[in-house]
Amino acid sequence: MTDIRTVGVIGAGQMGAGIAQVAAQAGYEVILSDIDLPRAQKGRDSIIRQLGRAVEKGKLAQADADAAIARITPVGEIAPLAACQLVIEAATEREEIKRAIFGNVGALLAPDAILASNTSSIPITRLAQAAPDASRFVGVHFFNPVPVMALVEVIRGLATSAETVTAVEAFAASLGKQVVHAFDAPGFVVNRILLPMLNEAMFALGEGVGSVTDIDKGVMLGLNHPMGPLTLADFVGLDTCLEICKVLQDTTGDPKYRPAPLLVKYVEAGWLGRKTGKGFYDYSGAEPVPTR
Ligand code: CAA
Repeated sequence: MTDIRTVGVIGAGQMGAGIAQVAAQAGYEVILSDIDLPRAQKGRDSIIRQLGRAVEKGKLAQADADAAIARITPVGEIAPLAACQLVIEAATEREEIKRAIFGNVGALLAPDAILASNTSSIPITRLAQAAPDASRFVGVHFFNPVPVMALVEVIRGLATSAETVTAVEAFAASLGKQVVHAFDAPGFVVNRILLPMLNEAMFALGEGVGSVTDIDKGVMLGLNHPMGPLTLADFVGLDTCLEICKVLQDTTGDPKYRPAPLLVKYVEAGWLGRKTGKGFYDYSGAEPVPTR
């Protein structure tokens, strides 16, 4: 089985930085790559802040935080990823971007290295076609915030080998995560269920069924969810929500997955949620304020 010592993470946004953080804390050397060095460094800075908070709360020793940070190398090009036994792509949820990455990075990797995608919904069997060896290509889907959420969905494409699945299962376990296996179907397990709920909350808002706060409060108190659906959509990123809805709609042909008009409009406005400071809430003040 592939002996994983160095892990590459492509994309230093909220998911990529989270994956890099948990891998470094588990003792792996991590190469955190993005399209330029400042973006990769920004991802590493966010990890430094997260670990700093954990130290302040007395949940992590300063020496362990320092050691984890020292294991993360930010890079602005793909060549250093050649040293990795496992590369996890966590780039923007757009198929053409991911396919280009798999072609370019796949060509650099050792013959037994594994290429994985953290895609939220794009079929693994289809993405594997852009990689040099579909048997060493697999879906490993983390949840946000990665350091907190216990789950990793492992998605086996049609050609993914049993050895590849075993290696990523062992990797997920070494991060302290639990694994569920999902069939390579649109949205896999969790997003197949989550996105229709978030999208329905946006339809309800657009139709005036309830206000932003009433919809969120209703679901939090009525269903015991830790976040309301509109807060959660802002947290996931409205662009990501829209891309997942489109994948569900396009791949199944089922109109029940059509994106809510409000979701499309917010993305067109560049209101992508927390990451841009505005979505269903405005995050510029001390407390989030509904934007509608
Ligand atoms: N990174 C790391 N740790 C974080 C964090 C972050 N971004 N945000 C919160 N935490 C930690 C806090 O430090 C705190 O840790 P301790 O208990 O050790 O002190 C803990 O999480 C709880 O945080 P808070 O007390 O500040 O806030 P909370 O109780 O409201 O919890 C939450 C925050 C964990 C995010 C919680 O609201 C929650 O579970 N929300 C739902 C998250 C969810 O559904 N995620 C899945 C999204 S879907 C997805 O990711 C898949 C996809 O493809 C779209």
